[in-house]
Amino acid sequence: MTVPFLLLVAAILLCAPPALPIRRHTPDPCDRTILPPPRTLRSDQMTVLINGYSESRIPLLTSIAAAYSALPSVAAVLVLWGNPSTPAETLTQLSRNLSGGEAPVSVIRQKSASLNSRFLPRRSIRTRAVLICDDDVEIDSRSVEFAFRVWSANRDRLVGFFARSHDVDLSRRAWIYTVRPDKYSILLTKFMIAKTDYLYEYSCGGGGGDRMGEARGVVDEMRNCEDILMNFVAAEGAGAGPVLVGSERARDWGDARNEQGGKEVREAGLSSRREDHRKRRGECIREFHRILGKMALRYSYGKVVNSVGEQGLCEKGGKLVFCDQQVSN
Ligand SMILES: *[C@@H]1O[C@H](CO)[C@@H](O)[C@H](O)[C@H]1NC(C)=O
Repeated sequence: MTVPFLLLVAAILLCAPPALPIRRHTPDPCDRTILPPPRTLRSDQMTVLINGYSESRIPLLTSIAAAYSALPSVAAVLVLWGNPSTPAETLTQLSRNLSGGEAPVSVIRQKSASLNSRFLPRRSIRTRAVLICDDDVEIDSRSVEFAFRVWSANRDRLVGFFARSHDVDLSRRAWIYTVRPDKYSILLTKFMIAKTDYLYEYSCGGGGGDRMGEARGVVDEMRNCEDILMNFVAAEGAGAGPVLVGSERARDWGDARNEQGGKEVREAGLSSRREDHRKRRGECIREFHRILGKMALRYSYGKVVNSVGEQGLCEKGGKLVFCDQQVSN
């Protein structure tokens, strides 16, 4: 930084009334007066926030956004574009391609590349719930509607389809990130329904000495873990863990199992990458625990399914199959 520049900054700080000009150009996302009053938010629908980054995935993103926009439980879809190098022209075109659905779809270029931006409170969110998802995960519409009904009965908790867990490594006496078959405490942002308030808690909540600010700093530093931090926020707010819902058809295009070709080589490469990913996420959990001063994550058990359907086994052609398959075939 040059000396004249510093002098200029000093001059501005000394002479200008600081609040006014700053606020006019970049409104503070934490200023509650620019957000809709909480009592005006509607409860019968949600706002979908899709994270977009990769230009090569635009065709898939287009179909996912259109599918959400056609759902009765969706009031609006916001595509949050995080890739700063995408030309404005592409986003204009995308926005044009996405118009004409049931619920309005808008494309918003993120002001910063920070992963924290996906959780910023926004004036355009007019619903009590937000559905936060990635641009490469497709869920069948009945399952989405069902998840929203489950959320409506559990408004303080996160609801979603993809779960992970924190755990204790007894030998190291440290928190780790893992998958447990019997319980879970973390829902992934591949698909997550949360109350809109949590966006504010995440982005603007302080805690003594701006602990949330420090925790968001970890997300920026690690370029990962914003989903884990949201789970800390929600578990603290709800005093309970998340709710895992069973889906009928969930397709995760980002899942390695969807990739083609070179199986062995790929798996060798993947397992070390996965291991590294797991370690980094464990580090995040330890950091959030240290900064926030407590382990807020709570375990949940079981999965909520959308049918009571008693699933018996029936014999068909000498094989045991689910009885309802026998009826429908
Ligand atoms: C918009 O739609 C047109 C016509 O289907 C397609 O050629 C183009 O690639 C799309 N562009 C974007 C950015 O979605």
